[in-house]
Amino acid sequence: MKLPACLLTAAFLAMPASTVFAAEEKPAHPAAPAAAPAAAKPDLAQGQAKFTAVCAACHNADGNSAIPANPKLAQQHPEYLIKQLQDFKAGKRTSPIMQGFAAQLSDADMKNIAYWVAAQKAKPGFAKDKELVTLGERIYRGGIAERQVAACAGCHSPNGAGIPSQFPRLSGQHADYTAAQLVAFRNGVRTNGVQMVQLAFKLSDREIKAVADYIAGLR
Ligand code: HEC
Ligand code: HEC
Repeated sequence: MKLPACLLTAAFLAMPASTVFAAEEKPAHPAAPAAAPAAAKPDLAQGQAKFTAVCAACHNADGNSAIPANPKLAQQHPEYLIKQLQDFKAGKRTSPIMQGFAAQLSDADMKNIAYWVAAQKAKPGFAKDKELVTLGERIYRGGIAERQVAACAGCHSPNGAGIPSQFPRLSGQHADYTAAQLVAFRNGVRTNGVQMVQLAFKLSDREIKAVADYIAGLR
């Protein structure tokens, strides 16, 4: 029986790489071998070594950056981290600092680093602004109905842990970093998350400050 090439390719791609490459024969379709590296397991030791050498200076040895402008990366979902590094490298997310570092990473480096730092435990943060935190909580949990701003909790989960692999973890993040990202989404400086762009342009400075402060204290 002869199957159309596209069906064969689909069936091939659906197979785990181990099944495929255990067979003696070479894959029939030239596009197929591309599936192999993606299935490779991350090398956590390599990831830690590279992180320690290059990234720890700014993001701290365990990924819990102590500098408010530099995001905490510990316990973030690895898929999200890889997407950000790819986006920096491709220029889809701009940062004069991170684009240079990401450009030097291979796909394997990104995967190794992301899975290593994702396995580090996040240090909790704190909300600082007593007056604003109530407003922040209201926005985070309930959104802003009159402006059709969806509740952050709906995508990032009620405790800010996010939903792997679609929605990043936010809880405990530095308020300065969170606020800066919301402003970047709002001003069209960060465009690599359509859902956030659509939402952030409806937020005022005060609302951004409030919700960022609330998020810092989430755990
Ligand atoms: C000189 C300081 C510095 C170094 C070194 C550095 N970073 Fe960053 N990193 C930053 C800053 C600042 C940002 C925030 C960029 C922005 O404003 O969007 C950031 C953002 C990130 C983000 C996005 C996080 C998020 O929540 O979206 C990732 C991922 C990241 N860095 C990974 C790395 C990795 C991996 C390395 C090492 C290869 C590294 N960084 C090295 C300063 C640094
Ligand atoms: C419809 C789903 C959705 C809603 C609602 C939503 N977000 Fe997001 N958010 C996302 C997605 C998806 C991303 C990742 C974008 C990307 O891939 O870079 C994100 C990213 C972010 C980031 C960047 C995180 C980082 O580490 O750089 C922040 C901050 C953020 N959201 C805050 C909020 C806040 C505050 C609210 C509520 C006012 C909110 N989000 C509501 C989907 C959502």
